[in-house]
Amino acid sequence: MQSDIDQVLIPREQIAERVAELAARISRDLVQADHADRVARGTGDTDGRNEASGDEGSGRFEVTLIPILTGSFIFVADLIRHLPIYMQIRLLSVSSYPGRSTSTRGASVNAALTNLPDSLEGQHVLVIDDILDSGNTLKLVNDLLKQKRPASLRTCVLLRKQRPEAMAAHVDYVAFDIPDRFVVGYGLDFDDYYRNLPDIVTLRAEVVDG
Ligand code: IMP
Ligand code: MG
Repeated sequence: MQSDIDQVLIPREQIAERVAELAARISRDLVQADHADRVARGTGDTDGRNEASGDEGSGRFEVTLIPILTGSFIFVADLIRHLPIYMQIRLLSVSSYPGRSTSTRGASVNAALTNLPDSLEGQHVLVIDDILDSGNTLKLVNDLLKQKRPASLRTCVLLRKQRPEAMAAHVDYVAFDIPDRFVVGYGLDFDDYYRNLPDIVTLRAEVVDG
């Protein structure tokens, strides 16, 4: 497996550092948004103390996290351990790069691996995906989740490819912008392999084309 690697694009130490940094920003934003919500509704206290204790006043602050399977599983596992807030996790499985393809074939939901609730009313939702490429997946997911009427909907990706479609798509949090190349590792696959590589890497051309 190691001999299939062409180049290490983002080493594990750099991923770990950036994931922690991004998590700090996300929790700061979510707590601030919750506070602004309460002030706007005139509920809860407005001095910020309840956010710290989390579970007093008019309902505690919590989020619904929606990892997009399968590629985001390692990113999510690392990210949530830096997010000290109440959260429920609901899974959404979307297929876009079937088998040995390295370009998208349009996105579709895989119902068997999805456990979304019927409604997300009143929920603050954070969607997490591995990589933003054509933008089809996030578009599909956003459209689907908006119908469930969440109180807020934020999106976060580990990687964004520097191609026009990806740069034009709306996303709230990006850990790394990368060149428009096919990458694997840290959850990302080629033909469902290589997800367990700890670094984000490119593969040798013979492996991908062969
Ligand atoms: P999009 O729908 O084209 O934005 O693609 C998003 C999905 O395609 C991701 O969640 C990945 O599953 C897959 N994908 C896109 N680019 C890559 C890549 O470079 N390596 C592995 N999977 C990729
Ligand atoms: Mg995916």
